[in-house]
Amino acid sequence: MHTIERMRVSHLTEIMPVERASYGTPWSVAMFVLELTRAEGIALGARAVPHEGESVGQLIGYLICSPQADEWHVMNVTVAPEHRGFGVARALMRELHETLDTATAGTARLTLEVRPTNEPALRLYASEGYLVAGRRRSYYPDNGEDALVMWRTPSTAKGRFDDVPAPDMSEARQWNCPDRLSVDPSDMRETAG
Ligand SMILES: CC(C)(COP(=O)(O)OP(=O)(O)OC[C@H]1O[C@@H](n2cnc3c(N)ncnc32)[C@H](O)[C@@H]1OP(=O)(O)O)[C@@H](O)C(=O)NCCC(=O)NCCS
Repeated sequence: MHTIERMRVSHLTEIMPVERASYGTPWSVAMFVLELTRAEGIALGARAVPHEGESVGQLIGYLICSPQADEWHVMNVTVAPEHRGFGVARALMRELHETLDTATAGTARLTLEVRPTNEPALRLYASEGYLVAGRRRSYYPDNGEDALVMWRTPSTAKGRFDDVPAPDMSEARQWNCPDRLSVDPSDMRETAG
C-alpha cells in the first residue's frame, strides 16, 4: 500500500538512497535539484503507508517528467529494490498520465529513453501505452549501450506514428510486435508527423 504525492527539493534526502541503490551511474544531487525546481515539471513520489510508530511512511519510488518544447520527457522512473513488483511504478505512471491527459485534453505527447536490456522497464512502458519508435546509438555513457526511444501520443494509442517525429519503422516493427505489445505491426502506418 502506498500513496502518491508531488515531490519537492525537500524530498532529496529520501530520494538519493533509492537512486544510488538503483543505478550504477545514479543522477547527482544537482540533477535532481534542477528537475525538482522546474516550475512546469511534474515530480511524483510514492510513499509507503507508515509502519506502527512512524508518523510518515518511507519514500519507495519516484517519477520525474519535464516539458521540452511541445513534448513531455519522462526522465526518471525508479522504485526501491525491495518494493519492486508491487505496482508502484505503474501507479506513478498512471498518475502522470492522468494529470497530463486532464491538463491537455488528451493531446499530451510523452517520450522516454530506455535500455534495450531493461526488460522490466520496457514491459512497464509498453503496458502503459508507449511504443518503440527509434534508437539512439551509444546513448548511455557508462557502457555505450544504445537507447530505445519510446512515445506515448494520441497516435501511438492507435498503433500509429503520425505525431511522432521521424519514427524508425524498422525499430518499431522489431519491438512493437504482438508478443511484446498489443499492436499488430501490419497496422502501423509509415507516415511521420
Ligand atoms: C522498472 C521499475 C521502475 C519497475 O518498477 P515496479 O514498481 O517494480 O513495477 P510494477 O510493479 O509497477 O510493474 C509494472 C509492470 O512492469 C513490468 N515489470 C516490472 N518488473 C518486471 C520484471 N522484473 N520483469 C518483467 N517485467 C516487469 C511488468 O509489465 C509489470 O506489470 P505486471 O506486474 O502486470 O506484469 C523498477 O524495476 C526499477 O526501479 N528498476 C531500476 C530503475 C530503472 O531501470 N528504471 C527505469 C529506467 S528507464
